[in-house]
Amino acid sequence: MTRMAIVLAAGQGKRMKSKLYKVLHPVCGKPMVGHVLDTVKAANCEKVVVIVGHGAEKVKAYLGDAAEYALQGEQLGTGHAVLQAKELIGDIDGTTIVVCGDTPLVRASTVEAMLKLHEESGAAATVLTASFADPAGYGRVIRGEDGTVRRIVEQKDCTEEEAAVQEINTGTYCFDNRKLFEALANVKNENAQGEYYLTDVVGLLKSAGEVVQGYCTSDLAEAIGVNDRVALAEAERFMRERINREHLLNGVTIIDPQNTYIEAGVVIGADTVLYPGSVLRAGTVIGEDCVIGPNAEITASEVGDGAAIKFSVIAESIVGPESAVGPYANLRPGSKLGRGCKIGDFVELKNAVLDDGSKVSHLSYVGDAVVGKDVNIGCGAITVNYDGFNKAVTEIGDHAFIGSNVNLIAPVKVGDGAYVVAGSTVTQDVPAGDLAIARERQVNKPGYADKIRARAKAKKERNSK
Ligand code: UD1
Ligand code: CA
Repeated sequence: MTRMAIVLAAGQGKRMKSKLYKVLHPVCGKPMVGHVLDTVKAANCEKVVVIVGHGAEKVKAYLGDAAEYALQGEQLGTGHAVLQAKELIGDIDGTTIVVCGDTPLVRASTVEAMLKLHEESGAAATVLTASFADPAGYGRVIRGEDGTVRRIVEQKDCTEEEAAVQEINTGTYCFDNRKLFEALANVKNENAQGEYYLTDVVGLLKSAGEVVQGYCTSDLAEAIGVNDRVALAEAERFMRERINREHLLNGVTIIDPQNTYIEAGVVIGADTVLYPGSVLRAGTVIGEDCVIGPNAEITASEVGDGAAIKFSVIAESIVGPESAVGPYANLRPGSKLGRGCKIGDFVELKNAVLDDGSKVSHLSYVGDAVVGKDVNIGCGAITVNYDGFNKAVTEIGDHAFIGSNVNLIAPVKVGDGAYVVAGSTVTQDVPAGDLAIARERQVNKPGYADKIRARAKAKKERNSK
């Protein structure tokens, strides 16, 4: 039997009041439709068809060749949306999972369990349901006296009695593929919204004597359909809890899970400790035994085992094992630290590679630089990499010492073991092992301090007259 999936993603999502198409809104850093696709992919579907309409190009650009696409030119309802997949999969014998692109919390394990029940029972349709204390906004699952699912009624078409039903349709289903498309042909749009409802297929199959069943999940988060930003925030919270829990179970210590924000797909090694205010964004990989936070925003970066990052921002960078960053450091894209480096307070790095053991401890800008091993860059030292038009590279060799408040005017090279004294403005290469002094010599004028004070005082008095 072929397994297939249809993901509904053609709606605009008016209630989101957004320029961004609904299914592209991220939940924990990943667009909703991406979560849904991961879920159906986990169910080993041979074919996945995403129904696109509003923002079709954007949705396709995001998902790429992870799916096939069918275009729904006009959004005439979820039933009409599914019908658009007919050409691609209508003739195949098998089971089709249908999921809405706005239900990011449906679990792969639930879909798997539901599929098993569906296939073993020979049902024509199995609906994933949940029981909500406040079912407002969702389709209600109407069961017969024998307890089997009869049909689904949309909120807007509900009688008072139906509206009181708390079991809702989550919008995830398994169908016998052929029976799905046969029934869809008979769906009408005579309802409060004038739409072709996919939910009507359930009632049609039941009336035709087919087996139709409900599979009720006890995890209410799974059932959230994101129609507005209130639900988006709710989905974000549930997803965050789920992600954090997984890391906790994997051996990561999270001091305060409610104030720790880990996006989907982030990898964290065991015995790493996350302090509050850690924001770990997509594409980040953190090693074991690290200490992250308080307050660290790390985006698409790699942090090696035993590193410590506090009160800092790191993007598209690599922090080597046992390195320390912060407090108050900013690692911009392309920064790469080796093992045991130290980046201290108010240091900004950009496109700077530092080999093992190098230190930039305070108040520096190091950009477009290649720095060797065990280099010390003193307080306030700056690579002057930009003339307003061009970027230039600074190279610093192993074991070099750059004194405090040095300006390295790039392009410039400081050789291995060279020593640049504090306050120098270096415009020429410094050969290996040399000492560079590039500053005015000091002159001391004996006793002159009082003279200069007297002069200044006199000037003030003149001016105040
Ligand atoms: C739908 C269900 C409702 C269920 C709820 C669960 C129907 C008629 N109703 O309602 O029973 O409780 O989901 O969250 O199915 N879409 C298209 N083309 C269309 C219309 C919708 O692709 O013409 C897509 C949307 O992009 C969205 C999904 O289908 O991802 C669901 O549509 P939406 O309008 O959000 O349906 P609900 O009113 O939430
Ligand atoms: Ca919805």
